[in-house]
Amino acid sequence: MCGIVGYIGPKEKKEIILDGLQELEYRGYDSAGMAVIEDHKLQNFKAVGKLVNLREKTKEYNSDGFGISIGHTRWATHGKPTELNAHPHLGKYSYVVHNGIIENYQELKQELSDEGFVFLSQTDTETIVHLFEKYHNSGLNSFDAFQKTIQRLEGAFAILLITEAQSDTIFFAKNGSPMLIGFDSNDVYFASSDTPIIGKAHEVCYLNDGEYGYARPGDVKLFDSNGSKEINKKPLVTNKAMAQKEGYRFFMEKEIYEQSTVVSDTMIGRASANGIKFEELSSLSLEGITSIKICACGTSYHAALASSYLFERLAKMRCSVEIASEFRYKEPLLDPDTLFITISQSGETADTLEALKMAKKAGLKSLTICNMDNSSIVRESDAAILTRAGIEKGVASTKAFATQMMVLWMLSLKFAKERGTISDEKFSEEITAMLQVPKSLIISDKLHGKITRLSKRYLHGHGFFYIGRDIFYPLALEGALKLKEISYLHAEGYPAGEMKHGPIALADAELFTIALMPQTSHYDKIKSNVEELSARDATILSISPLPFELADDFIQTDHATHPMLEFFEMMVVTQLLALEISIRLGNDVDMPRNLAKSVTVE
Ligand code: G6P
Repeated sequence: MCGIVGYIGPKEKKEIILDGLQELEYRGYDSAGMAVIEDHKLQNFKAVGKLVNLREKTKEYNSDGFGISIGHTRWATHGKPTELNAHPHLGKYSYVVHNGIIENYQELKQELSDEGFVFLSQTDTETIVHLFEKYHNSGLNSFDAFQKTIQRLEGAFAILLITEAQSDTIFFAKNGSPMLIGFDSNDVYFASSDTPIIGKAHEVCYLNDGEYGYARPGDVKLFDSNGSKEINKKPLVTNKAMAQKEGYRFFMEKEIYEQSTVVSDTMIGRASANGIKFEELSSLSLEGITSIKICACGTSYHAALASSYLFERLAKMRCSVEIASEFRYKEPLLDPDTLFITISQSGETADTLEALKMAKKAGLKSLTICNMDNSSIVRESDAAILTRAGIEKGVASTKAFATQMMVLWMLSLKFAKERGTISDEKFSEEITAMLQVPKSLIISDKLHGKITRLSKRYLHGHGFFYIGRDIFYPLALEGALKLKEISYLHAEGYPAGEMKHGPIALADAELFTIALMPQTSHYDKIKSNVEELSARDATILSISPLPFELADDFIQTDHATHPMLEFFEMMVVTQLLALEISIRLGNDVDMPRNLAKSVTVE
């Protein structure tokens, strides 16, 4: 996730770009930059870190005549957050800003380097501006060169490009990443979402995937693969808070809905029909590694626990998982043949960071799965895989967990392949299922409506047990944690087979059991466990593709061809259930009491 702003007109461009980027800073703040062409003169500024640094750098600069401008706030995906990697990226006479991931950038970079183009950054984005100049230098006019450029790009992008060769025009394209155009008489605005242009533009056109075009003062032309298109303008909403949440009631809700997109972003360039690839692991050899130890806290710990089933089952690697705060003081025995993995959304959790330092001191190789590039844990680790969930604002983690699970599944398959512990047939079955995950995360109105209606029956009672077996046990822990965090109701996650060894003593009509009953993983076993609870009068909410006659309530899931597809779909159901219960109880969903998004103290 990154944020993009653009403006064409006579107003002070620096302020419009900086104010717009401020609204988008939640999308990333590793670095920021802007480029302005005024009077045929191009100016470019970049600064590492938060936007305030770019403000400081541009404080002497004014841009109050007619001109064009583009700006960007970055959330690193390729290359560290340095000034050279900050956008806009420059060619000889053009600048580009980009949000998304160009999947075929390595191939393009090779082609352009062979032709003598010099790359200054490690980003995928820089290929766009060189490609444009290559076609422009070959004699094409600017628009044709731009059109040809975007035809070469694979992956997700929202792009703004400006060039001294046509200094009154912004070229734009959208495919998979958000972009809109705002209109106010002859002035034209671009942005990744509504908020930067509220109070400035009066009408808006939300671009669709595959659309591109060019804009000059009072003149915007839109195209797609069928040629020129009408521009569909709408009046712009004026409520900023609503616009930031894009119509959702809470950031957590928005983030639950974003999961399909961010999981797909996390897979780009890594998972395909040809297998699993992690460029970031090229320097991390598995030679001599026989086992895995994972340390994490909170939701990330639940992802770790779920992945231990995958590492053992698929890659046949011994995998132990520990809560970081416990690991630190148990005087753990550490062997150098163990790969030490940390998982962290923020990359700043104190206990996880300290656990990592201990493992490094003991000579272990370290890998982190993290959502924040340049965070302390990423810097401290030998290798890092970024989860590309974008900034998560809701304190209760949702999309970060989904992307962690996807990375861990991909990683276990990669290890399995390297170690020869998986047959070709099984491997391709796994990949086929994996590629369906983004689809399984799309939430239907029917499902959400059902959960909203059901939630009114679960506001009281003396407790919740979320139960599951296998990977659905850590998911039960995570479902219970979500409910605790935002509803303040007591909830526990339990292995379904363990209920009879104690907790079943609590069973009565006021004990709510949320039963995760996947069709593809030990269905009959969990069914018996739930029957035992039902016989003791517990109230059962069953989540399953298969109707269950003893259930008091039933939420039917769809994807029953692979346990991981069921896992992701049931994850969404538990998240929505916690959300709807919390909303009915009138709680602050995004900022629940007593919690913090990033816990940097022990
Ligand atoms: C805090 C957050 C949790 C999170 C945990 C670990 O407690 O409230 O949502 O799961 O920290 O955070 P991390 O950033 O390391 O994943």
